[in-house]
Amino acid sequence: MKVLVTGGAGFIGSHVVRRLVTMYPEYQIYNLDALTYAGNLENLKDIDTSPNYTFIKADITDASHIQELFETHAFDKVIHLAAESHVDRSIEDPLAFVKTNIMGTMNLLNACKSIWKGEMQDHLFYHISTDEVYGSLGIDGLFTEDNSYSPNSPYAASKASSDHFVRAYGETYDLPYIISNCSNNYGPNHFPEKLIPLFINNIIEMRPLPVYGDGNYTRDWLYVIDHAIAIDTILHNGKTGETYNIGGFNEWKNIDLVHLLCELMDDTLSRKRGTSASLITYVKDRPGHDKRYAIDASKINTELGWKPTVTFEEGLKATVDWYLNNKTWLAQVTSGDYKDYYSKMYTS
Ligand code: NAD
Ligand code: DAU
Repeated sequence: MKVLVTGGAGFIGSHVVRRLVTMYPEYQIYNLDALTYAGNLENLKDIDTSPNYTFIKADITDASHIQELFETHAFDKVIHLAAESHVDRSIEDPLAFVKTNIMGTMNLLNACKSIWKGEMQDHLFYHISTDEVYGSLGIDGLFTEDNSYSPNSPYAASKASSDHFVRAYGETYDLPYIISNCSNNYGPNHFPEKLIPLFINNIIEMRPLPVYGDGNYTRDWLYVIDHAIAIDTILHNGKTGETYNIGGFNEWKNIDLVHLLCELMDDTLSRKRGTSASLITYVKDRPGHDKRYAIDASKINTELGWKPTVTFEEGLKATVDWYLNNKTWLAQVTSGDYKDYYSKMYTS
């Protein structure tokens, strides 16, 4: 079986590629990635010489190149992760998100539609989406697969749009598809623009920890390897035409998470308790900031038997240890353009 993973050099994609390459030596795994600022082949250096792994540098916004690649390689299944993924960047430059997340997805859908014509049932387009498409929850309730869409950021709107197109291609052209909507991931290889890796890096460097607004925003955190296991489970056992919500059963207010991380880092770095917390700085809120996300993952649990394997305390410790043991990776991704990004976003 030839499986195309898009965005496989990114955070979640690299864990998905590693899992598929190592678990299924009989499959050919193709990693298609444009290597934007978020894509890094260092994430896969432990498996990149495996005989069942091929890297393809390509941009999903280039329709003719995508079509040509589908003609050449005849992929059986597609797991689509390539995207612009950071909410704050989407507020600065929404069109970049329209281009990659909507137009790029359209190009993949069109290639699948034309190449798989007449033998659709042997194929699958598996679209990786986010809980952000559902909008924001109040103080209680959980997102189920039946929730209506109500995206609030340009990022969430672009992902919602791509979800709708995937479904529409299923209805209109019989394209076999599955969509999964996952909560916040964390773990190794996470680009340090997102809350947890950004704060780990800042604590190492003793820089301010910029908490947006009052810090009382809630997210549901899942260890990235558990997401990769869920994707593997859905790829093999998911039902075509279905949506699965994936979450960690693990809600944290940002400020409580930051305090937990600060204590863990103080202990790990043998610093006096309170050292990291003294870096906490409340800054201007994110516009359109969603108050709370929380996933009801009972469908994937009861129907496919998936549940998280790692507790938050274990996952956070493993994550901190990974960053401390991979300072070269961190130094590489925080050099150059990252410095400009950081001063643009965090220097008022
Ligand atoms: P990421 O930003 O770390 O990685 C994105 C990858 O896509 C990078 O390797 C990048 O080079 C590649 N890419 C970007 N534009 C491309 C283009 N035009 N053509 C080809 N490749 C391109 O993202 P992530 O956090 O790993 O997220 C992966 C997917 O999972 C996204 O679709 C995201 O919406 C979804 N998701 C993420 C989370 C999360 O918490 N990170 C949660 C739920 C869903
Ligand atoms: O819910 C799934 C989504 O989770 C994914 O679809 C997105 O790709 C992913 O980026 C993530 O989105 P969030 O906006 O929730 O993640 P982020 O790490 O950017 O922010 C988490 C929370 O922390 C959010 O409430 C904003 C806050 N925050 C974030 C940053 C970067 C801060 O307070 N300060 C910061 O500097």
